[in-house]
Amino acid sequence: SEEEKQEFLNSILTIDFNQVEKLYESSKEEKDFSNAKIEPIDFVDKSKLKKEDSKKYESIGESKIKEGKLAVVTMAGGQGTRLGHDGPKGTFDIGLDSHKSLFELLCDSLKEEGKKYGVTIPWFIMTSRENNKATIEFFEKHKYFGYQKDKNLFFFIQGELPMMDTEGKILIGEDGLVKLAADGHGGIYEALVKNKMVDKMKELGVEWVFIGGVDNCLVKMVDPVLMGIAIDKGVTVACKSVVKANPYEKVGVFCRRNGKPNVIEYSEITEEMAEAVDENGELLYGESHILCNLFNVKAIERMGANPLPYHVAYKKAKYIDKDGNLVVPDSPNAYKFEAFLFDAFGKVDDMAILRVKREEEFAPVKNSDSADVDCPRTARKLYKQFHHLD
Ligand code: UD1
Repeated sequence: SEEEKQEFLNSILTIDFNQVEKLYESSKEEKDFSNAKIEPIDFVDKSKLKKEDSKKYESIGESKIKEGKLAVVTMAGGQGTRLGHDGPKGTFDIGLDSHKSLFELLCDSLKEEGKKYGVTIPWFIMTSRENNKATIEFFEKHKYFGYQKDKNLFFFIQGELPMMDTEGKILIGEDGLVKLAADGHGGIYEALVKNKMVDKMKELGVEWVFIGGVDNCLVKMVDPVLMGIAIDKGVTVACKSVVKANPYEKVGVFCRRNGKPNVIEYSEITEEMAEAVDENGELLYGESHILCNLFNVKAIERMGANPLPYHVAYKKAKYIDKDGNLVVPDSPNAYKFEAFLFDAFGKVDDMAILRVKREEEFAPVKNSDSADVDCPRTARKLYKQFHHLD
């Protein structure tokens, strides 16, 4: 219909064709670390801190939290596809007796911490076009778990990029419009600025922002020690790590790349680097990135100023062909482009890394139980152990 044609044209007009061309070119580039100088990075082990240091950091962070200087952002743009869950990942029930969703578990923790410090921690949730409506409806249905929308609970939508085939042609989706896909969580800085969430944070007096994923049911979002270390060290970014379980665990690892802090993603690390050990037999690149990162608001603004590089994923994507037929591929056929939030780490000279205990802070839910790793069963077990529920 005329209306559909107009809508299609409008969707074409949103495309930045220069960017699309560059993205396609980048899909053919080999990842090559040989020109980059990759080195291990220093970290602080929370369990080995001297008592007086631990107290010092804690008291610095605690006073900031009590003054309302901390906000939390949850990245919840993903669907629970790998989990076999039909809906936003945050609505997934990991099978506790309470049947609480990931969103509710996170909210419980925020409320508990808020109570401890006598504040309500402002909560910002990043959704995607695909799951925004379902996410907000879910929160509405649960009365926002006691939070107040637009007062201390805010939703914003992440960016998207067109998907293309192996010849660089942009695909048309089932809806007859340009086929778009979420641009990865690296778009978060820009999305926070563009959607005026940073303005909102400043209005609320927020100085520090914890950004975490939705899929870790043990995520500790309010941590005075992490904030205290950042402030004491004079850095604008502080991240948590856990020791990598084995060389092939599907986690990114912290390192220095050409002197700057960085993360090498599990899909991009070479076998040699993954397996390298130091003189004590410990993994040289063994500090896992668990998507628990604290930023000063100023760092967010700086990181949102310039776009990050994109990583290419080769995916199965349904599309409409030139004759108007729907094609449902049974093997990957299309490129999806994603920026990773940790690629912005290189924009700061230094940052703090705090090694924490896996059993206390990292219970991700990524796969279905059949994978037997990072699945509802393993997450539930860790959650119950930590909260003494058995
Ligand atoms: C991620 C990290 C990896 C880390 C591991 C720890 C990336 C690219 N890698 O891997 O370094 O060691 O978690 O568990 O993140 N999300 C969005 N929008 C997007 C993409 C992702 O909001 O466009 C959110 C998801 O909802 C989820 C989080 O980001 O909360 C992680 O994304 P996911 O794609 O599942 O990353 P992993 O492969 O698990």
